[in-house]
Amino acid sequence: RQATDSPLYALMAAASNYYRQALKSHSSRGPAINYLKGRGLTGIIARDFGLGLAPPGWDNLLKHLGGDALQQKAMIDAGLLIENPETGKRYDRFRDRIMFPIRDSRGRVIAFGGRVLGDDKPKYLNSPETPIFHKGQELYGLFEARQHNRHLDEILVVEGYMDVIALAQQNLRNAVATLGTATSTEHLKRLFRITPSILFCFDGDQAGRKAAWRALEAALPCLLDGRRTRFLFLPEGEDPDSLVRSEGPDAFRARMQQQAQPLADYFFQKLGEEAAPNSLEGKAHLAALAAPLIDQIPGANLRRLMLQRLSELTGLNDEALQAASATLVTAP
Ligand code: GTP
Ligand code: MN
Ligand code: MN
Ligand code: MN
Ligand code: MN
Repeated sequence: RQATDSPLYALMAAASNYYRQALKSHSSRGPAINYLKGRGLTGIIARDFGLGLAPPGWDNLLKHLGGDALQQKAMIDAGLLIENPETGKRYDRFRDRIMFPIRDSRGRVIAFGGRVLGDDKPKYLNSPETPIFHKGQELYGLFEARQHNRHLDEILVVEGYMDVIALAQQNLRNAVATLGTATSTEHLKRLFRITPSILFCFDGDQAGRKAAWRALEAALPCLLDGRRTRFLFLPEGEDPDSLVRSEGPDAFRARMQQQAQPLADYFFQKLGEEAAPNSLEGKAHLAALAAPLIDQIPGANLRRLMLQRLSELTGLNDEALQAASATLVTAP
């Protein structure tokens, strides 16, 4: 797990201060401010999320923090500097980017995401894995959401930094994002310790829909009775950021209330598309797909109810379905 008293924390805090200060006063801040304003963000949200600027140039942070060789070595360990293995030359990892500090549950900066102001590639650059940052475990925005409200009735899981921030800007301050990785059971275990209800709201595109199904699979082992998981699918081409800005927070909230699908509904809808139970073969296929997944649900009531539903759809009784989840036969 995490090294809890690493000297890298102080370094990341210093870097974050530098980036924040640069957004306020660096001579090159103009385009960054315009960019953030153009995306509908105010200074208050920029402050709450500690947004910053890595100015253009190869050695801004290096000059600011990299006093001696030891310090520079630590900056390399922290993922702030890159060392060219051939020349030994060191330079800033983050250049000419809007900086999003990623904080752990205690509010300590453990990594950064950096976005280009235009259409250059890569659009986002993240800190590498370091002794204090394991990207598969972290959830962007969770610290900020809890700062705002200790009691979260529901948490929204979205794809991107800007989705979290744009929602917060509209006072929907309960969104978190995984950091470019798939939602994992570990992520969800963490969230369910804080809230009884999770709403997945990914981008309205092929990648987003794929991410939703993967999130469902990751959620199954977390589904104790009393927990709720829902899915909100957005119109094609929209993401939470674009949609909440175009339709406003009230319409977005209404969407959450009226259109979010409970996990079980999405489950049977999606599997029914893959294996339509309108033939015996279809029913057999559906049972084969669904039974082993339902079997992963720890909540006895939900598991029973979903098996019942599967039984109605296929005509297979409980016993047969139990057997279907136990014996996954591989075809020749
Ligand atoms: P905006 O264009 O700023 O609105 O970003 P977005 O969040 O809508 O981007 P997108 O839907 O393409 O990607 C969702 C998330 O995936 C981002 O927020 C990043 O965390 C991650 N991501 C996207 N592009 C890249 C990339 O080029 N590199 C890395 N490392 N991550 C990326
Ligand atoms: Mn570690
Ligand atoms: Mn996308
Ligand atoms: Mn997006
Ligand atoms: Mn976006």
